[in-house]
Amino acid sequence: MAEETRFPDGFLWGAATSAYQIEGSPLADGAGPSIWHRFTHTPGATRSGDTGDVACDHYHRWAADIELMRALGLNAYRLSLSWSRILPEGRGPVNPKGIDFYSRLIDTLLAAGIRPSVTLYHWDLPAALDDRGGWLNPDIARWFADYAAIAFRAFGDRVPMWATLNEPWVVVDAGYLHGVNAPGHRNVFEAPLAMHHLLRAHTAAVRLYRAGPWKGQIGLVVNIEPKEPATSSPEDTAAAERAHVYNNAWHLDPVFFGRYPDGMAEVFGEAWPAFDPESVAAIREPVDFVGVNYYTRRVVRHDDAALPPRATPVPNPRLVTMTTGWEVVPEALTRTMLWMRERYGSVPLYVTENGAAFADPPVTAGRLDDPLRVSYYRSHLLALRESMRQGVDVRGYFAWSLLDNLEWSSGFKLRFGLIAVDFATQERTIKASGEYYRQVIRTHGESLAAPLPTA
Ligand code: BGC
Repeated sequence: MAEETRFPDGFLWGAATSAYQIEGSPLADGAGPSIWHRFTHTPGATRSGDTGDVACDHYHRWAADIELMRALGLNAYRLSLSWSRILPEGRGPVNPKGIDFYSRLIDTLLAAGIRPSVTLYHWDLPAALDDRGGWLNPDIARWFADYAAIAFRAFGDRVPMWATLNEPWVVVDAGYLHGVNAPGHRNVFEAPLAMHHLLRAHTAAVRLYRAGPWKGQIGLVVNIEPKEPATSSPEDTAAAERAHVYNNAWHLDPVFFGRYPDGMAEVFGEAWPAFDPESVAAIREPVDFVGVNYYTRRVVRHDDAALPPRATPVPNPRLVTMTTGWEVVPEALTRTMLWMRERYGSVPLYVTENGAAFADPPVTAGRLDDPLRVSYYRSHLLALRESMRQGVDVRGYFAWSLLDNLEWSSGFKLRFGLIAVDFATQERTIKASGEYYRQVIRTHGESLAAPLPTA
């Protein structure tokens, strides 16, 4: 059995974070504000008024955090760059101190034998660009490509793996349709346009990278969430199909096929614009990999009163559920990876995020026991291994997250870390799940074969 759970040599064992969620000091050393800085400072926008002003203070503690990555045995680390640290106005003059910060971080990771995987955009748009329309302004593809060029020139000799965007679907669904993420819009007509310009920006950055001298890989990170109908009625079946196309194919079909999926007009109704086919076709551009963020799957029913895609989740009270309300369904990760291969072919895949928020007990005598999270990691890594056994080309896995951090508008209460952070003292404690992951990495996955002790 241990042999069967072993992962291939060269597999990346990582953990992931994002700039605004961990760095703190968002305006330090000449950085400009991002839309998340602005949003968290809007009364009522986040739980308990939590902001990223301090977060995990990673901006000052990054060297010690790299030591913790070493202690876990990671050979890869996924981070994101803050666009407005590098370009305070989003375009125009570069802030050298922003470049220096990431340059030191990348050098120190490499010296520790940890491969940096860098995401250019994890939701923190420079506020100055939002003032010009943000993702609704067609010029943003050029602004993003100009920023990407600066990042490639500064770090491209040392960064082997780049992602353009993190989860364009969440940028649009939460930021432009439901208004729960920055910039907090709630406009059904904006959502398709924001996605279109996100994808144009992605492709512009990929083309620019390919035109340069850099030798790394570049891809896109998306969140995939399988959908199932609550009943076999034609209404619920159609709702699940709409939700699936909306969540899982809207962003990838243009990249792979140069067109939006057929169901998009059905999802958005009159808010779906008549895109110029050439502009959609121009999004098609091969990527070196797709990063899949997987947390859960959703059972849905038809709901005419809901926003697109008019599908409402139906919870199953018998399943273990995270504090985010997400149900724990590891076999849906296997299905996700198989679906990716079936629809998009043999492109190499990484799991760029996977993890769980549970209500952790306090740290006692330097330990924190989080058995539900341990079990989540074991079952999902086994589910991933199963997809590889069935032939899916998976090159690496990044746990979400390295540290407890600012869970966006849900604030600091939701905890996803392998490492606990005491936000009053900034003290870090490796959780039992972090110890478990260390063991998995050390044994290349063989330790996954051992059942967990029952409580
Ligand atoms: C995002 C992370 C977030 C995580 C958990 C993903 O959607 O990329 O930034 O913290 O899910 O909600």
